[in-house]
Amino acid sequence: MAKVELANGIYWVGVVDWNIRDFHGYITRRGSSYNAYLIQDEKTVLIDTVKSTFCDELVRNVKEFVDLEKLDYIIVNHVEMDHSSSLPTVAKLAKNATILSSERGKDALIEHYGHDFDRVKTVKSGDELKLGNRTLKFLEAPMLHWPDSMFTYVLEDHILMPNDAFGQHIASGERFDDQVDEHVLMEEAATYYANILMPLGPLVAKKIQEVVATGLTCCMIAPSHGVIWRKDPSKIIKAYAEWAAGTSRKKISIVYDTMWGSTDKMARSIAEGATSQGVEVKMLKLRSATNTEAMTEILDSKAVLVGSPTLNNGMFPTVGYFMTYAAGLKPKDKIWSFFGSFGWGGGAVRAMEEMARKAGFEVHDSGLEIKYVPDEEDYKKCFALGVQIAKEVNK
Ligand code: FEO
Repeated sequence: MAKVELANGIYWVGVVDWNIRDFHGYITRRGSSYNAYLIQDEKTVLIDTVKSTFCDELVRNVKEFVDLEKLDYIIVNHVEMDHSSSLPTVAKLAKNATILSSERGKDALIEHYGHDFDRVKTVKSGDELKLGNRTLKFLEAPMLHWPDSMFTYVLEDHILMPNDAFGQHIASGERFDDQVDEHVLMEEAATYYANILMPLGPLVAKKIQEVVATGLTCCMIAPSHGVIWRKDPSKIIKAYAEWAAGTSRKKISIVYDTMWGSTDKMARSIAEGATSQGVEVKMLKLRSATNTEAMTEILDSKAVLVGSPTLNNGMFPTVGYFMTYAAGLKPKDKIWSFFGSFGWGGGAVRAMEEMARKAGFEVHDSGLEIKYVPDEEDYKKCFALGVQIAKEVNK
C-alpha cells in the first residue's frame, strides 16, 4: 500500500471498495471506500475498522506501520458493520489494545458481536485521550447517523474524524479532495447527504453549531467514506448547513413511471408547462433513474411532482418503492403534487397523496388523473399543472 499521510504520524489505512454498486439500497455508481486511520505517537491508535470482506487488507495495511499486538487503542466511532465488522478479528490480533467507543457504541458492539466486547471502555463528549505529543478529543454525535455515532478530533493537527458525516461514496486511487474532480466530489457529497442524512437535517445543523461553538477549527475533515477534505473543509461544512436548512432552488423534480406511455406523456406536458415559467425541471423516470438519483435531485428542488399509472387500484410498484424511500428520507420544505393515468377505477394519485400526507409532506391541492390516453384537453390540464406548480416555486 502506498503510504497516505494526513499529517506527520497520521495515516490512512483503509480500503477501497471499487465494485460496490448497492449500499443497502443506495446505488453507489462510483463505488466507495471504508476509511480507517492510524496515529503513531507514544501511543498508537487505530481509528475505525472496515467491512469484514476487506479485513485481511486492513490488517496488512496496519502491519506496514506496526504489529497489531502493539496497538494501544482502537477507537470505534460508529458500529454500523461497514466500519466495525472487522473489529472482532482485529480485536483478537490487537490483544493489548483498549477499545474505546461511546456508551451507546459499547451496547451496540455487544449486541452485534457478543460479550467479548464487555471490555470496551466508554468516552463521552469533551473527554480527551493523551497519546504523547497529540491529544484526541471526543464528541458524541447521536443519530448522525446512528445512536452510537461519535467524532474524534486530533487537537494539535486540527483534524476531525467524523466517521460517516461529510463522506461520499467514491472509490478512488486518490485520497484527498484536491486530487479529484471537484464537480464529481460535490455531486457525490450531495448524493450521500440526500440518501443518508436528509432526515437528520435539524440534528446536522445543531451539531455544526456545536462544533463551531467549541472553537475547534478543522484543517482537515477525514470521513469514513470517500476522500479527505483538506483543500477547503469549510466548503463541505457550508454545503451541509445549506442542505440541513432545506435550501432549495427554483427547480421541480418530476419522478414517475409509466405502463403504456400515458403517464410519461403527462409528465412531458407538465414539464413543458413548468419550463414555460422559467423553472428548471428534472425528469426522472423510474426504471431509468434510480431512487438514489431522484433523491439527489429532490435535495435542492422546491417542488416534487410524482406520477404513477394505476395498477390494481394503487400505485405502480416502482412508484410505491420510491414513495416509501422518500417518506423515510423526509425531504424538507417541498411542495408535492401527484398525477397519473388510469383505465377504469383509478386510485394511484389518491394512494400517493395519502402516503405523502402521512409522511408530513406539504401536498398541493392539484392531483391530476386522466383516463387511458391523454387527449388535447388532458394535455392542457397537464401543461396548466406544470404552470401552476412553477408559479408556486417562483413565489
Ligand atoms: Fe458508513 Fe453508517 O456506516
